[in-house]
Parts: sequence; structure tokens; C-alpha cells
Amino acid sequence: MGFYIGKVKIARPALLAPMEHVTNSIFRRIVKPFGASLVFTEFCSSDGLIYGKEKIWEMVRFHESERPITIQIFGSSPKIMSECAKKMEDLGADILDINCGCSVPRMEKCRAGAYLAKDLSLLKEVMESVRKAVKIPVTIKIRKGWDEDRLTCFEIAKTAESIGFDAVTVHGRTSVQGYKGKADWDTIDKVARSVKIPVIGSGDINSAEIAFEKLSQTSVSGVMIGRGVMGNPWVFSEITKYLETGINPHPPTLQEKMEIMLKHFQMAYEEHGEKEGILETRRHLIWYVKGLPNAASFRGKIAALNNRKKIIDEIKFFFQPLIN
Ligand SMILES: Cc1cc2nc3c(=O)[nH]c(=O)nc-3n(C[C@H](O)[C@H](O)[C@H](O)COP(=O)(O)O)c2cc1C
Repeated sequence: MGFYIGKVKIARPALLAPMEHVTNSIFRRIVKPFGASLVFTEFCSSDGLIYGKEKIWEMVRFHESERPITIQIFGSSPKIMSECAKKMEDLGADILDINCGCSVPRMEKCRAGAYLAKDLSLLKEVMESVRKAVKIPVTIKIRKGWDEDRLTCFEIAKTAESIGFDAVTVHGRTSVQGYKGKADWDTIDKVARSVKIPVIGSGDINSAEIAFEKLSQTSVSGVMIGRGVMGNPWVFSEITKYLETGINPHPPTLQEKMEIMLKHFQMAYEEHGEKEGILETRRHLIWYVKGLPNAASFRGKIAALNNRKKIIDEIKFFFQPLIN
């Protein structure tokens, strides 16, 4: 069921996607025990890591329990990217990933992310210098192309393979598309068939059945879960159970939901203090209750609270009538 990225064993085929402001160390540690076989940090600027403030390093630090872990970096200078890759290797990353799919405006300024994928010769230089700089496996995460007329995923995947990259992740949308429309799994499949290194597919996997469908009907080695894990780390245990037994597992009980929310909040509070802990957990707490009765009023209350005890009381108060 698993596969290898270089020498790193990926025990199961469902991976946690990199997501800015979402997949920090605490969230990764929440998700890992549910069966995410490989977790990614959110993207981090190579320039920032080399020349920026010490605080940016918090984005790439991780706990031993998160292993195997991929650190994702972005940038467009072959020199800075390779220097940064080496630093990430020294920090202990199991895998180094280059972000080549993000098209937010600040990426344009530094010609990184999806903008780097528009300049294939510069991208090749970056990839070569990063590959030479480290011994750990190196991977790249791309979109299918800039737009439907420029489907660069095939060429980038071939280049990655020829340079000695160990895997490619393809998000099956164009940069112009952003997150609109459906991910194009036919193209992801074609990329997977065109190279020998593992290809991981990304886009719209939010249930065990869909993960099973993509893994059985395409040639990808793994699937990445992005928005589908927000408020739902159980998606990983559900995928594992479905792949192993064919049985569609029960969704988590409300008691389990409440316990994970309290645990998640407590971890953030203990590590980052009250103010930061609340700031970083708020959106997660809201995601956890999505679709439950009174979720909108919970959202309003949580958004206004700045006190640890009141947040804990509010979580318990929300679940009390649902559980009893
Ligand atoms: C809030 C958010 C932040 C993201 N941040 C990153 C990122 O830091 N690096 C990256 O490669 N992709 C990032 N992505 C893209 C996801 O990794 C994934 O490829 C995309 O969301 C499609 O998968 P999904 O349909 O499962 O969400 C982000 C997506 C979202 C929704």
C-alpha cells in the first residue's frame, strides 16, 4: 500500500498537503496519529530563512513525532534555494520540497511558486542547484500548468525525473483557475504514467471513497489531502480503514470531536501562550463544528473570545446538548 520517496518509506498512500496558516507543527501532530503517512510544512520563503528574522524558523521547526516530514520552501534564486535546502537538511528534514504552485501576488514579485513554473529554464537551474546541495530526497509540487494553453506539468515532471528528483506532486488545476472548478485527475494520471518517479495527486480528496477511487483508477502513488482535513483529521483513519477493509467507517462521534478540539486548543495554548494559541486555533475550532447545529452561533462567539477558560467553556457548552 505504501511507496518510497527516495529512501524514505511512505507507509500509507494518504499525505497531508502543505497549507499556509494551517499545517503548522501543532496541526501536524494532531493529524499524524490518524494516519497521515507524510506531513508537509506550509511553504516558507528561502530568502526569509537565509536573510530574515529568527521568527520565520518557527515555520519549519518540527517534533520527532511528525516524521517523516517534508519541509517546503519557495524562491527563485538557485543560490539561495540551494543554501536554504542545505539548512533544511541540517535541521533534520526527511524530504525537501520546492513550491512551484502558489500564485498569490507576493510570489510574482520574487518570481517564485507558480511564477517560477512559467520560466522553465530558471526553474531547471533552481532544481539542479537544490538537487546538488542535499542528499535527502527532493520533490517538487506543481500545478497542471499556468493555464489550459500552458500545461507545463509534463515537462516539469520529466525534468524533475532527469535531474534526480524523487517525486512530483501535481495539483490538478491551473494557476489561473486558483481553487475553482474540479481538479483534473485525467491530467494527473497522464503525468503519473509519463515518469517512473512517484507522482502524488492533489485536488478534491475529502473522503475515503474518493481517495480509493483515485488510487485505484489512476497511476498515482499517493494522494494529498488539503481542504478535506480542515476540521476533519479523521479523514486519514477513514481512508486507511477503507483501503484495508473496504468498509466505510463511521464518522467520529461528537464526544471524539469535542475531545480533539480541546486537545488541539490546549496544545496551542501550552506552546504559544493564550494570545497566540487562540489566534492560531480559532479557525480550526470553527472548521471542526462545520455542519453541526448552532455552528454559526459558535463561530460568532469563538471569534469574539480572547480568554482560554471562556473558549474551553464555550466548546463544552456547544457540545453538551448534542452529546447528552
Ligand atoms: C489555505 C490553503 C493554503 C495552501 N498553502 C499551500 C502551501 O503552502 N504550499 C502548497 O504547495 N500548496 C498550498 N495549498 C494547496 C494545497 O496543498 C492543495 O494542493 C490544494 O488545496 C488542492 O487540494 P485540496 O482540494 O485537497 O484542497 C494551499 C491550499 C489552501 C486551501
